[in-house]
Amino acid sequence: MDVSAYKPKGRIEHKHLLNLLDYSAFDIYEILYLAQDLKNAFHRGKKHELLKGKTLAMIFSKSSTRTRVSFEMGMHQLGGHTLFLSSNDIQLGRGETIEDTARVLSRYGIDGVMIRTFLQSDVEALAKYGSFSVINGLTDDFHPCQALADIMTLTETFGRLNGLKLSYFGDGNNMAHSLMLAGAKTGMKVCICSPKGYEPNPEITAAAQKFGDVTVTNSVEEAAADADALYTDVFFSMGQAKDPKKEAALMPYQVNSDVLGMAKKSAVFLHCLPAHRGEEVTESVIDSTHSVIFEQAENRLHAQKAVMCLLMGKK
Ligand code: CP
Ligand code: NVA
Repeated sequence: MDVSAYKPKGRIEHKHLLNLLDYSAFDIYEILYLAQDLKNAFHRGKKHELLKGKTLAMIFSKSSTRTRVSFEMGMHQLGGHTLFLSSNDIQLGRGETIEDTARVLSRYGIDGVMIRTFLQSDVEALAKYGSFSVINGLTDDFHPCQALADIMTLTETFGRLNGLKLSYFGDGNNMAHSLMLAGAKTGMKVCICSPKGYEPNPEITAAAQKFGDVTVTNSVEEAAADADALYTDVFFSMGQAKDPKKEAALMPYQVNSDVLGMAKKSAVFLHCLPAHRGEEVTESVIDSTHSVIFEQAENRLHAQKAVMCLLMGKK
């Protein structure tokens, strides 16, 4: 069933958002519908304090603009509070274990923890040893909040998700993995186009392929042909050192006017941001009328507010 035909129930049976592996299409549709309602309320200036009195702690072991500000403002708009915990400032950064951190935070009445870190296993350990909801704000393997905002943007643009071809160009890491899962589950055709040696993780690819139409290719032409959406991400993710060999491998996968020209006329361009113009994408594409990058960035706010309400709100 496409998102456009779904009738929302206003709840999902999850405590955490660790990746999207265990989320059904209907769970994702619930998030998209609530996100749209919250977006409408936000733009009409209507109060929506659905998380009054709740507290979200935000642990950051990597930099952030969108994730930090959208979670902080989202929680504020929902009537709740946030605690910003840079891993440099808390004992986690000095070797305290994630398990002990989880057990300690559980004693202070915290309702949710958003964590941005390196290892996916740390996000999972936080969920295992803590009593609160855990939301993955990016790891080396996944970025589920971004993928939700992205498919929300595509739903707004096309009025549907089923059958849309989303082609991702570049390093097959966190964004590629989360887009594969979100896209496959919601009936999209996801094509990951990476140079040899930088393809997505085969286990995550195989898992996503069980849910839907996911292909991996080294051919830019194959990926761009008939695409409804073109997506790219930085050559070097946070925590990765610059490497001339990798840069040379990724350069032919740049999303430029030629690539845009091979896609459908109606195609949109997406990027999770931050972007490096002249590297993974040219100005002629990212600053063109095809680009929906700031809609994506705004939708982080609405999609995450929906996630927080569904995970941390009244059941
Ligand atoms: N897209 C994204 O997660 O942006 P930040 O790194 O600025 O949070
Ligand atoms: N792949 C990028 C995404 C940033 C939002 C990174 O991990 O740095």
